[in-house]
Amino acid sequence: MIYPKVTPMKCLLTVILTSLTLAVFILSSNELSPSLLIVSRIFNPEIRVNYTPGDFVKYMYLEPANESYCNFNYKLLNDFTFDGEYIDYGPELGKNSPYRVIYNVISAKATTDIPKVTYATHVSADFMYYLPELVRYWDGFISVTAFVPDTDVALVLEQINQYCHCLPGMSRVSLHFAYSITTVPLLRNIYFNKPVTCEVADSSKIETYRHTNDSVIYPINVCRNAARTASLTENVMVSDIQLMPSEGLARKFLDMIDQYKLYDCSRNVYVLPIFEVEANEEIPRRKSQLVELLRENKAVYFHKLICTHCQKFPGIETWLRTTPSDIVEPLVSARREVPYHRWEPIYIGTKAEPFYNEMLSWEGLQDKMLQMLEMCLMEYKFVILDGAFLVHWPGIKKKQNQQNEEQWRDPFKKQNSNEYAKILMNLLSRYDAKSECKPY
Ligand SMILES: *[C@@H]1O[C@H](CO)[C@@H](O)[C@H](O)[C@H]1NC(C)=O
Ligand SMILES: *[C@@H]1O[C@H](CO)[C@@H](O)[C@H](O)[C@H]1NC(C)=O
Repeated sequence: MIYPKVTPMKCLLTVILTSLTLAVFILSSNELSPSLLIVSRIFNPEIRVNYTPGDFVKYMYLEPANESYCNFNYKLLNDFTFDGEYIDYGPELGKNSPYRVIYNVISAKATTDIPKVTYATHVSADFMYYLPELVRYWDGFISVTAFVPDTDVALVLEQINQYCHCLPGMSRVSLHFAYSITTVPLLRNIYFNKPVTCEVADSSKIETYRHTNDSVIYPINVCRNAARTASLTENVMVSDIQLMPSEGLARKFLDMIDQYKLYDCSRNVYVLPIFEVEANEEIPRRKSQLVELLRENKAVYFHKLICTHCQKFPGIETWLRTTPSDIVEPLVSARREVPYHRWEPIYIGTKAEPFYNEMLSWEGLQDKMLQMLEMCLMEYKFVILDGAFLVHWPGIKKKQNQQNEEQWRDPFKKQNSNEYAKILMNLLSRYDAKSECKPY
């Protein structure tokens, strides 16, 4: 098959994909080459391979540095209280919410050579060890909001402090705090000195406050909104911290924007396909490596096995067929309309996109659905990127692991669906209804 060659055009992709006719527009011009089957899987030969997040740090940086690579603000780490004038709010609900935010507990040191795209994300004390991996894999800025109820704040700071003495890339990271007024962070008589080692602890083994108090809920969207709002760049990808970006993504994305002259394309966002890879495989860095794993059934698209439609993205067959390339290019454009009305893509957008709804909890699931619905009503175009992707770490989620997980969520799901109904009413009063944009 010969694919048509397409010349760059402004705010491209005149293709309108309607609900049922998923026309696919292919921008690549090459046939799949058999030689691409032979790819090297050795990414960092000097580093011993191990599959616990953060493990690479001790091989790369043998000794903690005397100085911290991070800019701590508000007299952190040693003289800080939770009643200063720096106490702020979530961007969507502001003072009307039970949550508080402290922006820029650490502020990134912006230097000119860092690609101006921010990976905005959220974290709790027991997921901290993914942060060093993001610093390693993401070449732009990172803006992360940590949820820090009660004593969890110390657990977060202790880990951050270590990373700040071990990883020079931590200078690209901004850190913010979010918490509920019912469980204000406690930080008493804790002093953070130079760590003794760069061996990153397994955060998942940490006994967090959140796990001891069942009524603490994770305000995932307060964290997302805060991280996005505080990012130093206009281009932002709001993502989950276990999603590892392909090689040089921030830089390659900006190259694409330049090459295709995609400036001032408001209501365009750029979607990263998401995959899962077997736990004993290395995280693929290039599409050619990922495609090989897919062929060997060692990788699948995200959540294929537990929710076939959730992340199955428009154009997936084309994406898999096009020549694995190291440059990032637009592949197809779609709207989030029926049958993709349950789709929750991760995309590179700007700070101008609708907020995530701050009353929806992580526990109650479907926390991004209303933002996506709003984007459907606003007629956003979702441009699928070729040559770029995210890999969910660790392993491939199978159906069996899911069963037990579900029951404890029931009260939270109920709470989310109550909030959902309220927010939906508000949304529908602000936009014209569209039959293609289904709320459920
Ligand atoms: C770090 O501090 C220690 C103790 O103060 C000192 O002996 C060492 O030379 C310092 N290392 C560097 C690289 O400055
Ligand atoms: C548990 O969390 C709830 C809600 O955040 C809070 O109101 C309550 O005081 C906490 N319980 C304890 C024992 O800290």
